[in-house]
Amino acid sequence: MNSEKNYKRHTVTAALPYANGPIHIGHLAGVYVPADIYVRYLRMKGEDVVYICGSDEHGVPITIKAKQEGKTPQQVVDHYHELIKDSFDRFGISFDIYSRTSSPVHHETASAIFKTLYDKGAFTEKDSGQYYDEESGQFLADRYITGTCPHCGYEKAYGDQCENCGTSLSPTDLINPRSVLSGNKPVMKKTRHWYLPLDQHEEMLRKWILESHKDDWKPNVYGQCRSWIDHQGLQPRAVTRDLTWGVKLPLENTEGKVLYVWFDAPIGYISATREWGEKHGKDWEKYWKDPQSKLVHFIGKDNIVFHCIMFPVVLKAEGSYILPDNVPANEFLNLEGDKISTSRNWAVWLHEYLEDFPGKEDVLRYALCAAAPETKDNDFTWKDFQARNNNELVAIFGNFVNRTLVLTHKYFDGTVPAPGELQETDREALDGMAAYPEKIGKAIEGYRFREALSQMMNLARMGNRYLTEAEPWKVFKQDPERVKTVLHTCLQICAGMAALSQPFLPHTAKKLQKMLAMNNIPQWENAGQSQLQQGHTINKAELLFEKIEDESIKGQVDKLLDSRKNNEAGKKVAPQKEAVSFDDFTRMDMRIATILEAEKVPKTKKLLKMTVDSGIDKRTVVAGIAESYKPEELTGKKVVLLANLTPRKIKGIESHGMLLMAENKDGSLSFLSPEKPFENGSTIS
Ligand code: MF3
Ligand code: ZN
Repeated sequence: MNSEKNYKRHTVTAALPYANGPIHIGHLAGVYVPADIYVRYLRMKGEDVVYICGSDEHGVPITIKAKQEGKTPQQVVDHYHELIKDSFDRFGISFDIYSRTSSPVHHETASAIFKTLYDKGAFTEKDSGQYYDEESGQFLADRYITGTCPHCGYEKAYGDQCENCGTSLSPTDLINPRSVLSGNKPVMKKTRHWYLPLDQHEEMLRKWILESHKDDWKPNVYGQCRSWIDHQGLQPRAVTRDLTWGVKLPLENTEGKVLYVWFDAPIGYISATREWGEKHGKDWEKYWKDPQSKLVHFIGKDNIVFHCIMFPVVLKAEGSYILPDNVPANEFLNLEGDKISTSRNWAVWLHEYLEDFPGKEDVLRYALCAAAPETKDNDFTWKDFQARNNNELVAIFGNFVNRTLVLTHKYFDGTVPAPGELQETDREALDGMAAYPEKIGKAIEGYRFREALSQMMNLARMGNRYLTEAEPWKVFKQDPERVKTVLHTCLQICAGMAALSQPFLPHTAKKLQKMLAMNNIPQWENAGQSQLQQGHTINKAELLFEKIEDESIKGQVDKLLDSRKNNEAGKKVAPQKEAVSFDDFTRMDMRIATILEAEKVPKTKKLLKMTVDSGIDKRTVVAGIAESYKPEELTGKKVVLLANLTPRKIKGIESHGMLLMAENKDGSLSFLSPEKPFENGSTIS
């Protein structure tokens, strides 16, 4: 059961992105670009292939995001679904369908599969105690509970993790747990859930992964699976949740329960294929049930356990589905030496890149594929991006094509000249080109996309070198016949590049095909052969790539540094002070007061001297607020006065009390004023 097998068709899936935020370069490099290269290559080979993706629209984070933004979960996913879909589209990610898990087809498919498994007795059921919020009348997902971390004492730890010390927790670990919904203490309540007993499938997983995919799965993927099976141990996993957002359980008396998002999301691949089949009159079932279909899941490394263990167990237990032939998961992409982070805004967002670099979609595809984290985490830097563009795409690929086309127009009016007798260098170039489809194809089929890309560039390198060495611009005067042969050869190489670059640089390939007026694009296997007939007329030369200047790279780096700065500024909230007793607090006599007049204290920058009516008396108060308020703004202002602060002398003036102020993180000050115009002397507690 490996890639050597003769397959009839290909089902290729790319991880369904969560529709609760935009996508960034890490997603593109790790999943969608490699999958797209793979699929475009297969299509060029004439294979029967379907490329599936869509939005993952369930799960607790989406409900939390909705709550934060005052929207419904559906509104949240509608927004991001469109944004993400559009980004993919513009980068030329050529899904056959981009569906979504909130669609009716998906709900129907996912609940049918759950029901089948249920009827077969594939689940175990268990009652357990779970936190419940009585005020809002619902069970609380782990993220909906906060409390004090038992390890580090951090008071805002979540029910699944403490973000201060990183420990993973379960809700019952929290000291003093509170509901995020109401702030109340949650109560324990009994609830029933359905579990997938992964432990009962250990034999199957061992045979299927550890024995039969030892040699063809990537070491990082195989290693993670072995660790799950051998070391961490397989345990029953709950596949249901108490939540209202998701696929409802197709069972009686299970109101308020939905499928766990990691149960329903991978089934989204199936639903999307079904939707695609129904739309295009294809038999979708073959793509999932015929053992002659090759199923491949492209994912990031955090998804491995779900795609290699959990989902296969579901498919196997259902009984009629095939298992993946491979799961070529990538590691993570870092950005400028730091982990990509949505919450810290340390990312390059695709929709922003598209605005900043219009028409340069292929450049990012290229740079990301060249730096793809195939075997280990890898770093993306803007400097590297610039170098890839300027030194490779412009200086090699673009330069070779441009010189060839310009010279063809100059010497031969834009028609492909007839070759004379081939010399050894010509033959070497043409024979060299003939080997590329197989070289590149082997790398792609082995999921080594960086190698494939660099092979494709080697063809351009070879052409560039050949042209430079042949020097037609020097030879033309004495030997125009020789130049015919040289440019004929160069044009064939350009045509080869126009075909073989298509999986990697689809926009560029199209443009080049048009420039060469190629009427039919050869099938992959033939793309190393000469394509252009003598006498064929090509179109005008246009630049395929342009230099990216230091300035625009600096703009991007500055943008990142700005978000780092904002973040650090955002973090500067003063730590909480030591506890005070209620008695301590009540000893402070705070009152509503009105400022009657204010003037600057001479020879100081910050001090204002004010007379205030405290309701008890009229008194003098000095405060360092001149940088935030002008004296004339203050007359008549209602403020809060700490009246019984021991009088102090400031710059020779005795100050009787203190006016309460808030301080912003930029250092500016604001009075606290009563919301209603209460009488002077009103007490505060
Ligand atoms: N939404 C998940 C993530 O971004 C991936 C889901 S893949 C699927 O990590 F198989 F579940 F669909
Ligand atoms: Zn902690």
